[in-house]
Amino acid sequence: MVVLVLCTIRVQHQSAEIRDSKSLSLVIFASFIYLFLLFGKRFASTMKFVRFLMKNAALANVPKHIDHFSKFSPSPLSMKQFLDFGSTNACEKTSFAFLRQELPVRLSNIMKEINLLPDRLLTTPSVQLVQSWYIQSLMEILDFLDKSPDDHRVLGEFVDTLVTIRNRHNDVVPTMAQGVIEYKEAFGQDPVTSQNIQYFLDRFYMSRISIRMLINQHTLIFDGATNPIHPNTIGSIDPYCEVAEVVRDAYESAKMLCDQYYLGSPELELQELNTNKKGQHISIVYVPSHLYHMLFELFKNAMRATIENHEASSTLPPIEVMVAIGGEDLTIKMSDRGGGVPFRKIERLFSYMYSTAPTPQIGHHQRAPLAGFGYGLPISRLYAQYFQGDLQLYSMEGFGTDAIIHLKALSTDSVEKLPVYNKTALRHYKMSQEADDWCVPSREPLNLAVYRVAK
Ligand SMILES: Nc1ncnc2c1ncn2[C@@H]1O[C@H](COP(=O)(O)OP(=O)(O)OP(=O)(O)O)[C@@H](O)[C@H]1O
Ligand SMILES: [Mg+2]
Repeated sequence: MVVLVLCTIRVQHQSAEIRDSKSLSLVIFASFIYLFLLFGKRFASTMKFVRFLMKNAALANVPKHIDHFSKFSPSPLSMKQFLDFGSTNACEKTSFAFLRQELPVRLSNIMKEINLLPDRLLTTPSVQLVQSWYIQSLMEILDFLDKSPDDHRVLGEFVDTLVTIRNRHNDVVPTMAQGVIEYKEAFGQDPVTSQNIQYFLDRFYMSRISIRMLINQHTLIFDGATNPIHPNTIGSIDPYCEVAEVVRDAYESAKMLCDQYYLGSPELELQELNTNKKGQHISIVYVPSHLYHMLFELFKNAMRATIENHEASSTLPPIEVMVAIGGEDLTIKMSDRGGGVPFRKIERLFSYMYSTAPTPQIGHHQRAPLAGFGYGLPISRLYAQYFQGDLQLYSMEGFGTDAIIHLKALSTDSVEKLPVYNKTALRHYKMSQEADDWCVPSREPLNLAVYRVAK
């Protein structure tokens, strides 16, 4: 029977007319009916075998789909477009039709780049696992390409599929981080690979932030429920996000961790400067969870530095936060007196290959709560950059650090920043180590005797 199925598939597969997985699936299905009529008793085992074949046939087509969808550039959405998708005339069908094309485009663009990682990193079990999640999710979305948006059942299934995908990808960051650690431990670090990994992970995590944003908007808006705590939010966006409120929330959460771990924490001094509407609290159209994430990470760092730098003294200097808004920018400055970081090391703090905290183990719960993989700063910077903002550190070694978050004050300026797979990106991965175009100072004192002019 098995031979018969295989023969049917092979013969049909070779046929010039049957090229895509759909036709192949139909053939398998027809063979299956035929076999079922012949061998009705062995229904269960036949079924299992046919399912296995169909899955493999679909898997074999994945590279073709990735090639196809990666030829499209992702379409960045503005905050205004996100709001329109979720406003009173929200149309689930339009959102469905957009996402079933856009999600494969964003997934495929970044999957192309995963394949460009150094082989020794790509083949680690952790990166393989992440890659398998991406393939699985891509296939699940592609299933909806030929389904009708007018069918309510289809729309419901689509929401369920998106929720499944979101859950499947929950652990992408620690799993990928584990892959980088395994690679670093086995092969060490060289400047070219570190630069490639940094370039890739910035783009990979940015893509992930954007995909989760799209999924969250669709699932939150079209599951029919309103947010009981913030009824005015549109999906995950708050059109009147009060910045100071988020600062206080993030401070309280970090303070709780800090108190638990160090038995004390610095106070918060918060100041707002609203030049646009004097005396009023500053608010913007933003995703509060993104802002919270950045501030929470900055507070944890500021608290750890403050405490470790004042071990000998009985009082702790406060963490000062200043929020200001102008015509273009909304800026949040967090200043600590935690001793600062040497200027030479600042860029390194945003590296995925570097942390001063001990490396945590996945599933190991007794980790230091204020420092983990060393991803706090780089991921927070991505959140800021996602809507065209930025996050920067200015430090005075021996005194303290200012962490500054720049966001767009106007929702019309807040547009997604997305990676695209193209020749420029490809060139980054192919770059080899080139000679520096600035002189490297010699460590040996220069022997000026050779220049002495004979008298
Ligand atoms: N305000 C600060 N003052 C002094 N050093 C800082 C400050 N913020 C960050 N650092 C240094 O930068 C490093 C990287 O910070 P980052 O938040 O990215 O990772 P982490 O705190 O080590 O781990 P986690 O992933 O839990 O955040 C820290 O380990 C710390 O040495
Ligand atoms: Mg941190």
